[in-house]
Amino acid sequence: MDKLIVSGGRRLQGEVRISGAKNAALPVLIASLLTDKPLQIGNIPHLHDITTTMELLGQLGVHLQIDEKMAIEADASDVQQYRAPYELVKTMRASILVLGPLLARFGRAEVSMPGGCAIGSRPVNLHIKGFEAMGAEVTIEGGYIKAKADRLRGTRIVMDMISVTGTENLMMAATLAQGTTVIENAAREPEVVDLARCLARMGAQIDGAGTDTITIDGIDSLGGATHEVIADRIEAGTYLVAGAVTGGNVKVRNVDSHLLDAVLVKLEEAGADLTVNDSSIHLRMDDRRPLAVNVRTAPFPAFPTDMQAQFVMLNSIAEGTGTVTETVFENRFMHVHELQRMGANVEMRGNTAVITGVEKLRGAPVMATDLRASACLALAGLVADADTVIDRIYHIDRGYDCIEEKLAQLGARIRRVPGHMLEKQLAVM
Ligand code: EPU
Repeated sequence: MDKLIVSGGRRLQGEVRISGAKNAALPVLIASLLTDKPLQIGNIPHLHDITTTMELLGQLGVHLQIDEKMAIEADASDVQQYRAPYELVKTMRASILVLGPLLARFGRAEVSMPGGCAIGSRPVNLHIKGFEAMGAEVTIEGGYIKAKADRLRGTRIVMDMISVTGTENLMMAATLAQGTTVIENAAREPEVVDLARCLARMGAQIDGAGTDTITIDGIDSLGGATHEVIADRIEAGTYLVAGAVTGGNVKVRNVDSHLLDAVLVKLEEAGADLTVNDSSIHLRMDDRRPLAVNVRTAPFPAFPTDMQAQFVMLNSIAEGTGTVTETVFENRFMHVHELQRMGANVEMRGNTAVITGVEKLRGAPVMATDLRASACLALAGLVADADTVIDRIYHIDRGYDCIEEKLAQLGARIRRVPGHMLEKQLAVM
């Protein structure tokens, strides 16, 4: 298994181009199932989750063509399968998103029930409740969610909790339902808005995406469209934190800075000088050590849970004591144990990490447990006094496009080593 080796001690300096957003690209690709006309999608990031989604769509019968610029044409005119198998769903929970489009267009769908995962139990009850409210018959058999409906009916759905993929799944299904669907307590994440924009280009009648009430007037069929995926705000935030923790000077390009407001406020509190334009953010620390900050995660527009691990890391080398409270997922602190192995001073109090900064972390072998935890460990490696060897980096490849190239472009010393090579290297040391 590949590992990443990060040698700390460099101040990051330079510019990095932000890729398309994973969590926007996945639902947009899956939206191709809603139409028999081709959907052209640009700014797709080069990620393992995209490959998994293409494999899933391919198994369902979608014809996919990808060009050298990572633009994809998806043609779902010949879908013959309606089942997302366990083997794929277990590697990518977002596979649940095929349920709504398949059900709406073909009247049936089967998706393996996603199990728990490293960051929480993550049930999909809200998706199922929503489809039932739209008239679908849903059963759980042999570990599969099986849903069928003659034609979904528009209705009013009040979400018990704010769910990003829940909102996306129901919004996609509602585009082809009979009548009007109103989703209350909808997620307001930019990725939901991007999907709504793509669906509107396909002819869907959607109003209110980006607010907590989304209204969809169902129509009989959708057409093809061309759509560019928005930039990845979490990738941008991660590189800005990399700049901040190394006392560096980092500019992220090709990003909608308005989508990062909650993160930028915290970076400024941490002492960063920021120059913010519509499509770029320039962070300067000029060799200063960040100040500890208090952070509380919540749905958009509040501070994103997907930036939580990176800020635990920032606080772990900051001046002072800061708290990081996680309110979205119940178990998203696996990175804390690994950071403690690198010398971080973190005390867990319920869902709050209380972190007192130390001047330097110590290099150590560490294990990535999920996508954002692995990014946090790579950042920790940048400020450690010796090499940090990160195992299970397949997590990082799910969501960070060319992370070692991009960090190296900013001056970091980072390399990927196949597992067997590393064992040999360690043996001769
Ligand atoms: N929830 C339920 N029932 C449901 C759905 C959600 O109880 O039916 C709970 C979850 O257990 C969680 C909370 O609601 O406690 C919010 O979960 P949500 O459904 O919003 O999460 P998600 O849609 O599964 C997406 C992103 C995550 C991101 C979260 C929160 C995608 C593909 N994934 O997940 O991204 O953390 O929203 O913003 O869009 C990541 O990129 O690293 C990642 C995990």
